[in-house]
Amino acid sequence: MKDTQPRTIYLKDYRAPEYLVDRTELTFDLDPYATLVKSRLSVRRNPDANGTDTLPALWLDGVDLELLSIAIDGELLPAHRYTEKPGGLLLNVDKSAFVLEVQTRIAPEANTSLEGLYLSNGMYCTQCEAEGFRKITFYPDRPDVMSVFTTTIVAPANYPVLLSNGNKIDSGTTADGRLTVTWEDPFAKPSYLFALVAGDLQFVEDRFVTCSGREVTLQLYTEPKNIGKCEHAMTSLKHSMKWDEEVYGREYDLDIFMIVAVDHFNMGAMENKGLNIFNSACVLASPETATDAAFQRIEAIVAHEYFHNWSGNRVTCRDWFQLSLKEGFTVFRDAEFSADMNSRAVKRIEDVTVLRTAQFAEDAGPMAHPVRPDSYMEISNFYTLTVYEKGAEVVRMIHTILGADGFRRGSDLYFERHDGQAVTCEDFIVAMEDANGADLQQFRRWYSQAGTPVLDVEDTYDMETQEYRLTIRQHTPDSPGQVDKLPLHIPVSIALLGRSGSALPLDSSGEVERVLHVTETCQEFVFGNIPERPLPSLLRGFSAPVKLRYGYSVEQLLFLMRHDSDPFNQWDAGQRLAFDALSSLQQAYRNGTELELPESLIDGLSAVLENTRLDPALVAKMLALPSAQELTEQGGEIDAPAIIAARNFVRDGVAKTLKPQFRARYEALNVQKPYCPTASDIAERSLKNTCLSYLCATGDQEMLALAEAQLARDDNMTDSAAALAALVEFGPADKAQAHLDAFYRQWQQDTQVVETWFGLQSSSPTFGTLDRVRALMQHSAFEFKNPNKVRAVIGGFAMRNFAQFHAPDGSGYAFLAEQVIALDKLNPQIAARIVTPLTRWRKYRAEQSTQIQAALKTVRDSGELSRDLYEVVSKSLA
Ligand code: PHE
Ligand code: ZN
Repeated sequence: MKDTQPRTIYLKDYRAPEYLVDRTELTFDLDPYATLVKSRLSVRRNPDANGTDTLPALWLDGVDLELLSIAIDGELLPAHRYTEKPGGLLLNVDKSAFVLEVQTRIAPEANTSLEGLYLSNGMYCTQCEAEGFRKITFYPDRPDVMSVFTTTIVAPANYPVLLSNGNKIDSGTTADGRLTVTWEDPFAKPSYLFALVAGDLQFVEDRFVTCSGREVTLQLYTEPKNIGKCEHAMTSLKHSMKWDEEVYGREYDLDIFMIVAVDHFNMGAMENKGLNIFNSACVLASPETATDAAFQRIEAIVAHEYFHNWSGNRVTCRDWFQLSLKEGFTVFRDAEFSADMNSRAVKRIEDVTVLRTAQFAEDAGPMAHPVRPDSYMEISNFYTLTVYEKGAEVVRMIHTILGADGFRRGSDLYFERHDGQAVTCEDFIVAMEDANGADLQQFRRWYSQAGTPVLDVEDTYDMETQEYRLTIRQHTPDSPGQVDKLPLHIPVSIALLGRSGSALPLDSSGEVERVLHVTETCQEFVFGNIPERPLPSLLRGFSAPVKLRYGYSVEQLLFLMRHDSDPFNQWDAGQRLAFDALSSLQQAYRNGTELELPESLIDGLSAVLENTRLDPALVAKMLALPSAQELTEQGGEIDAPAIIAARNFVRDGVAKTLKPQFRARYEALNVQKPYCPTASDIAERSLKNTCLSYLCATGDQEMLALAEAQLARDDNMTDSAAALAALVEFGPADKAQAHLDAFYRQWQQDTQVVETWFGLQSSSPTFGTLDRVRALMQHSAFEFKNPNKVRAVIGGFAMRNFAQFHAPDGSGYAFLAEQVIALDKLNPQIAARIVTPLTRWRKYRAEQSTQIQAALKTVRDSGELSRDLYEVVSKSLA
């Protein structure tokens, strides 16, 4: 462990910057081991700093830099004028405005953290969010210092493509035959949005004419071998540009928009101004190589990064505590875009599933934090599901409260008022209030209180008075550092279903759906003129990120599955039914009593399976049992073996009992037609492959043969990967291995497919044993320095293979600890993320809990940890 503990940074300590940087001129002379970076900064005293008359010292962040020289107004600075400290430089200043020139040397080839300037397959690229720019040069690396950047890149002739933000203003060749290009970005921006790329790349080009008639050049750059995999991202980009004009009135502002695909990347993608950099897996696709899920993910991420041009770049964050200002808002924007492009209900179900499985767990774990955290040690650890997904839910609730038009008035005002500024979540809320004359005072607590609120709902009906009453209680559990939370303003969308299954009018206007504003700890809502005892459909569309409890009977849930006009709640009713059944089975398993198939669940699923009027994608979602991971969120101690036993029992029972129906729907959907990633085709494939998976779960030879035939047909990756996954999970191991080998031989040249192939094995609850996972790490295509490979193999095992990771001997935990320790030396961000499963030790039953905790202590005691890993490990053991 560290001798000196990393410092905690607090929101309450925020101070405006002492100095501003109006212009930033950079020159990069690229070399793998000795890149020379020259910067020329026009610095001036910030008039808004809480000033004294004497000029304070200027702090410049800098990490892993070799300082060559510093000059002020052309004069070299003697050593006594500055002090090098851990994390940066303190400069004595004697003028209120000056030009600062700094020269540093860096080694991109040695940079395995993938922050700052690094090499990926021989291509130079940068990643500066959140605090990577300080690994490039000494700079006030904070988002409230916004500057106009000019960037000159000098590189050997074998790097013909040299890119940076903004517009290209100059290019040429140096006397010694090297290439040089200069870019200028006219929009002032914080350093985290800086980007540079240099490589031997090819590009595809298109154009977009904006709503005001300006023509924008669109370019997508990749390594030459991937040039055939750009079309889908380009189409998605054009759709995003159009959508942002139509839905938010936002037009693109530069003459060129570029996207670059890189193989080594810590996250999904990055919204650098005019030069987005993407993880290859989040941008490259072709029907033969990418699954439907990948197509949709790419569409969403391209949109997300594009939307940041307004929600993030034109209006940016004052400090990193405000991260959700840009991320929550932008996730909400991309979710609505995806909903408009595809099935709205299915998109909502997918997002809520992520929230319930992973964000709720985060909110109940040792790293729980509010959407706007109030402290951190390492900001990289706060790019979380809470900031992103719960943050998006918070924005969605504002949308629900104000209505679509009111929300648009608010976003218009926000963009107009704060264009070119670095602002706070508070500024966003105030704009929403001001544009609507609304009061979001209590609503603000969503930004400052951590934890998932629980709503307990009860109802009564009085036949005499025809009155129906809903009583709603809210409670938010304590979380680290936060107790006794205040009631939140929670919008709860409801409808009341009558015996016929249709929603009853709630008033004389005939309105059948209403948003209840829950603001008190306990609150009653009364509905008059309700002619019969209704069945409530609660929290429709998941109108708030809460856990809602209501004592639905099995019959009521079956009724909602059949009749609720809100497809989200239709699905949710089925999930509740499955949850209840699986909980009872876990109990039975623990008691050693014989497990019995829950008839009602089978009936419900059978009806869904035979319902050909429902969207097939929704049917597929309704047929899917909650994942093992999701079942850990039921509350109470997690008993991994019981979860696995109960879930497998139900899955196998459903598969056997409904086999003829699964077979019939599979056959009906299994038609040959050219691949198209349209919503309706995607929907059909998803149902077809859900049926195939259940059919293979029976273990029947004939059913496995269906999967083999589908795999052999080989005309799109969605069907191939689904067939292969079913064969690997349910077929005999030797045959599975043979299919895997053949698949690898066919696709070994394609990085994205190889990643899918790795992930499919390591996450298989039957095939993905620890021994096989270790063997995969020895495979020639595995690369410890590539986050995608690490996520596929180690992450696939630790985060998506519940059964093997929780092997009773604790071997999975020890393995993860060992990998985390090794990863931390190379890439702290990845180490701090992949350790997550070990941080949940408190939630497990006695023996597992002790084993997990022991593994985490091994990490803690392994020597000096990065700040990233230290924060997560120490908070989890505290
Ligand atoms: N800002 C990026 C996004 O959400 C995420 C990111 C953060 C990427 C940090 C890289 C590093 O769009
Ligand atoms: Zn983002």
